[in-house]
Amino acid sequence: MILKGTFLHTPALGKMEVYERAWLVTEGETIVGLYRTLPPRYQGMEVTDWGDCLIIPAFCDLHIHAPQIVNRGIGYDEQLLPWLERYTFPTEARFSQQDFARRVWKAFLNRLWERGTMRFAAFATVHKQAVWQLMELSEASGLRGLVGKVNMDRNAPDSLREDTDASLADTEELICRSRAELKKTGFILTPRFVPSTTSRLMDGLGQLAERYQLPVQSHLSENRSEVKWVAGLHPDIPTYTQVYDTFGLLSKGRTIMAHAIHLTQEETDLLEEKEVTLAHCALSNMNLSSGVMPLRRYLKQGLRCCVASDAAGGNTADMAKTITASVQLSKLNWLSHPEQTPLSLGEAFYLATRGGSAFFGDVGAFLPGFQFDALVLRPSELDALVERTPFERLEQFLYDGDDRDIAARYCAGTLLSRPFGEEER
Ligand code: GUN
Ligand code: FE
Repeated sequence: MILKGTFLHTPALGKMEVYERAWLVTEGETIVGLYRTLPPRYQGMEVTDWGDCLIIPAFCDLHIHAPQIVNRGIGYDEQLLPWLERYTFPTEARFSQQDFARRVWKAFLNRLWERGTMRFAAFATVHKQAVWQLMELSEASGLRGLVGKVNMDRNAPDSLREDTDASLADTEELICRSRAELKKTGFILTPRFVPSTTSRLMDGLGQLAERYQLPVQSHLSENRSEVKWVAGLHPDIPTYTQVYDTFGLLSKGRTIMAHAIHLTQEETDLLEEKEVTLAHCALSNMNLSSGVMPLRRYLKQGLRCCVASDAAGGNTADMAKTITASVQLSKLNWLSHPEQTPLSLGEAFYLATRGGSAFFGDVGAFLPGFQFDALVLRPSELDALVERTPFERLEQFLYDGDDRDIAARYCAGTLLSRPFGEEER
């Protein structure tokens, strides 16, 4: 496949490249090259000409709660723990009903597609049947996803609290079934967070991580009351991060931890050693008054970081709005922490594309050998009135754009249409 258009990407943090009126050649899922002039060997071949559209890497969201997509914007007068009790847990309990689950999952996957998120790591719910439905629908959607069955066997309402052995057995069944039947959707171990999982459950999940060489996702040090609670639950383990490590849940190079706000230096050193990806969820952290992740400090330390929506702690699954919120929050944080310089828009864009996508391997930038995930942005009526540079066009899309500006979406080299139609609702 040969595409023509103006390409913009961020192959590394702090590095942005623009190729105006250029050609990108793919073979199957993979990029062969991006060229300012089309090499002679491709002359005469069919070209998809996107005219004056701007083509950017598609978004990757490494921390989102699929069932909570119906709760966007609800309940932010509370902080984390009461918000979970009052709003989140009752909603998640409804996913024991498979009809309801199926309708929400389709709308969830449609929403990701619509807003340009082609890769994701999602928490589902505790319910085995509903998780499997999401995995099958994700496979059918063409998006690339990691989906986790949530594990919780303590401090949960009766409607969600699992028997420890059943939780482990259901998890292992989903691991095996997804490996046998799915290609584009993977399983990710998903202990909800330390307060929801007993030591025995965490230990069993750690063993599954090792046996099946699985990725892991969870929450870490989001809220001060939560951190205190964890210290009380595990008085023999010095820090929250070490609780996960004690039970083998910092699977090296394969773990995503969301929030990571209130950490000690020892904890960030351990996260660096374990090559954990830290998901910064700016919208969620503002909505639930959780705190401000010292992202600049983590980036300087060399920690792996990305920005993520955390919907419905985040009020939208839209990664463009997640990017701009990350920049805006970093500016306010800078006023009280002058050593933490604000995030530039280009840096935040990198963290939403190549930064998160690195968890999936070579994807998230237009480099030879990388999988081709992209969004084609068409100038809107307003955008077309004033001459703009490609970067200015990206700025306007991120700050004030929406799905009407996205003319096409590619995931792993394939043009994707809306996954699920109206008639299927
Ligand atoms: N910690 C444990 N569960 C959750 C959740 O669903 N959302 C957020 N933001 N934090 C959590
Ligand atoms: Fe979360």
